[in-house]
Amino acid sequence: MYSSSSVSKRLLLIHVLAIQLLLISSELSLNTTNAYLNHKCLVSQGKYKPGSDYEKLFRKIIKMFYKASIEKQGYDLLGSDTLSAILQCRGDSYGPKCRDCFVTSLAVLRRKCPWSKGRIIWYDECLLTISATYATGKIDFDNIFCMSNAKKLGDKLGFGDVWNNLMDNLTTVAISRVNYTEPTALYSVGETRFKGDTVYGMVQCTKDLSPEACEECLVFNSIHFQDCLNDKRGARFVGPSCTFRFEFYPFIAVRNFKELNK
Ligand SMILES: *[C@@H]1O[C@H](CO)[C@@H](O)[C@H](O)[C@H]1NC(C)=O
Ligand SMILES: *[C@@H]1O[C@H](CO)[C@@H](O)[C@H](O)[C@H]1NC(C)=O
Ligand SMILES: *[C@@H]1O[C@H](CO)[C@@H](O)[C@H](O)[C@H]1NC(C)=O
Repeated sequence: MYSSSSVSKRLLLIHVLAIQLLLISSELSLNTTNAYLNHKCLVSQGKYKPGSDYEKLFRKIIKMFYKASIEKQGYDLLGSDTLSAILQCRGDSYGPKCRDCFVTSLAVLRRKCPWSKGRIIWYDECLLTISATYATGKIDFDNIFCMSNAKKLGDKLGFGDVWNNLMDNLTTVAISRVNYTEPTALYSVGETRFKGDTVYGMVQCTKDLSPEACEECLVFNSIHFQDCLNDKRGARFVGPSCTFRFEFYPFIAVRNFKELNK
């Protein structure tokens, strides 16, 4: 016969196992998921018709980007007055990861914004912008957003300094990476501490920007979204030109986060 104490021990054991499994799967998911973040159909740019010149050019770009998504280290761009496009994968997500993200982005955009001339989609690992105007080489201040963990830290003043310093340091490193053939150009990751916890951060700009424009974009957004970023257990601003993200867990393979301390 089981005594009640052994039953509860057993339940406890099952509980512990379940928690361990949860932890393992959440760690795995960090490595494997490429979360959808947002999309935007630029309705003011209108729609295109099947068989139109726009569609022909669009198809060409898709082929070009598909090829480039592996060869060109996670980035490609086309700028013209009638159609411009940018594919920017995260600094660690070049090669097959970038191609997967591009293929997914395109399929989802086609479904969410059918026949739209202008459309943008954001995933963790890539950004795809298509526009009927000349949209490359300049900062897009309009299509920006910020997402944050609902949990607050309860230390507005203390944490304000922490994320500001992290952001400053990451920006300095990113804009010093000017070899544009590298996937890590205008990109950096790093970590800092807050009250005994590690805070992991990342910044990236699209590679059509100059380092000066990259910095301007990051600074503008960090001021614009300071309330969204401050005092949160993780937050990020995202846009067509630049992004900053911090979390209390390593959202990119841990080994990459040491860079700032070098
Ligand atoms: C930023 O860099 C400065 C100088 O290298 C360093 O003292 C500081 O601790 C760094 N801050 C963060 C948050 O990484
Ligand atoms: C830029 O990076 C590429 C690819 O890693 C490398 O082959 C090239 O030598 C680098 N150029 C400079 C100027 O460092
Ligand atoms: C991703 O997986 C590798 C091993 O495949 C592991 O070393 C690394 O810590 C994992 N990264 C995260 C963020 O879980």
